[in-house]
Amino acid sequence: MTMTAPPSPATSLIESALAAAVRAPSPHNTQPWRFRVHAGRIDVLLDPRRVLRVCDPDAREALLACGAAILNIRLSIVESGRTPIVDLLPERDNPVLLATIRPGRPRRPAPEDLRLAGAIPRRHTNRRPFLDRRVPLHLRYALGRAAVAEGARLVLLDQPGQLDAFAALLRRSDHLQSEDAAFRTELATWTRDVPDADGVPRTAGGPRALEGGVLALRDYGGRESAAERRFERDPLVAVLQTPGDTRLARLRAGQALQRVLLAATASGLSASFLAQPIEVPAARTVLRTMLGDRECPQTALRLGYGFPGATTPRRSVHAVTEPLPRK
Ligand SMILES: Cc1cc2nc3c(=O)[nH]c(=O)nc-3n(C[C@H](O)[C@H](O)[C@H](O)COP(=O)(O)O)c2cc1C
Repeated sequence: MTMTAPPSPATSLIESALAAAVRAPSPHNTQPWRFRVHAGRIDVLLDPRRVLRVCDPDAREALLACGAAILNIRLSIVESGRTPIVDLLPERDNPVLLATIRPGRPRRPAPEDLRLAGAIPRRHTNRRPFLDRRVPLHLRYALGRAAVAEGARLVLLDQPGQLDAFAALLRRSDHLQSEDAAFRTELATWTRDVPDADGVPRTAGGPRALEGGVLALRDYGGRESAAERRFERDPLVAVLQTPGDTRLARLRAGQALQRVLLAATASGLSASFLAQPIEVPAARTVLRTMLGDRECPQTALRLGYGFPGATTPRRSVHAVTEPLPRK
């Protein structure tokens, strides 16, 4: 009988961190990342083959997704009782190496870190209608603080007229995208009739908003999309902004996005994305001006109380991790 040795504490810490990383959200569930593990260090790499050529030509959203994976790795290392040491864009001449992360000194995790780490496997994009229940002020502030903690800003569209202006922009950009044959082909390429290891399964798509619905959600052709349902009357929409739009700013935005989403999940809130006005360049400019012209919109979220929807699968850690170099 052969006995397999149990993984060493260092190995299981890295394995947990990678299992957390792959739970990050990504546009059309492309999972545009790869990981390399050596000498107790995780390298986070962009996988350029998985960048959406039409929807995301300069890989901005792919960097947000990788930033979200980086936050999951950090939180998992903290949960394991170590301080994560993170170097973003460590090699100037290596554009695919986005970060190196290694566990540093022992550190007792703060309760908030444990709460966020615990929310990683529970966070899902929920494209279904939310309840007509207001998100209380203390949670709105908490979501704002989550963004600030990662160097970004979450602007809640709660001023008179802001939501209507955003909704009009969303409808226009959603319409522009759906009229674009190349966009439709790309969306179809990443939409799955039967759930697969990547792409968005139709089961994760939401229903169409009943006539008069405020927001246009991206149509993944969900089983429910034939039916029209009433969405929440007064949705809470938030735009995540960063001071700049460099690659570094985008990686930070991704970490902020994920911290906001995890804080929402941990507080019992659901979220879905409304990225169309940021993906269409002209609409992004209008949105930026609308929000004061000082910062760059990176993504928009709809937040509220919902019932859990279908989950979206991932490729395994094994499939996205480069093998350890042989000793
Ligand atoms: C930068 C970014 C933009 C996204 N944009 C949209 C969007 O406009 N509409 C949408 O329904 N989902 C959007 N998503 C959500 C992804 O489709 C989702 O994260 C992916 O399918 C994985 O599913 P999960 O979030 O439930 O794990 C976006 C995700 C990211 C990271």
